[in-house]
Amino acid sequence: MPTDTAASPFERVGGHPAMRAITDRFYDLMDQDPAYADLRAIHAADLAEMRIQLPLFLAGWAGGPRDWFEANPGKCMMSAHGGIPITPDTAGQWAEAMTRAIAEVDLADREIADAMADVLSRMARGMVRD
Ligand code: HEM
Repeated sequence: MPTDTAASPFERVGGHPAMRAITDRFYDLMDQDPAYADLRAIHAADLAEMRIQLPLFLAGWAGGPRDWFEANPGKCMMSAHGGIPITPDTAGQWAEAMTRAIAEVDLADREIADAMADVLSRMARGMVRD
């Protein structure tokens, strides 16, 4: 029996370096591709803090170290986005940019990476508030 059957998605895709690489590619795409201009426009001008926070969120979400959740007790995806206008278009841009980022980064386990992209996309589209 393989010894890694209990490995979390966080461990399987490559740990913190993988989460940082996904996040950096995601925000690079958002910065550079006009297809994501509406999504870019609702973010702060400086994404440096998000490049730190999103990988920490993703780490805990994917079964790794829970630093983000411990630093933000009681915060969930909806409360973290209170007041942010999330339309079908901007949610779709988030889902597409994240799917592209995960596809383009070299990750240790492609199958689990693609599953993460699928779930994150569905979460983003489920956050629409009309
Ligand atoms: C599964 C989907 C998503 C995840 C995992 C995610 C994750 C996060 C996290 C962890 C933060 C930081 C919150 C904090 O520390 O207080 C954040 C902020 C933010 N998110 Fe999301 N998010 C998602 C979807 C979306 C969508 C669909 C939109 C817009 C359409 C969006 C727009 C924003 C904006 C504008 C901020 C504030 C960033 C800033 O300071 O500029 N997010 N998100």
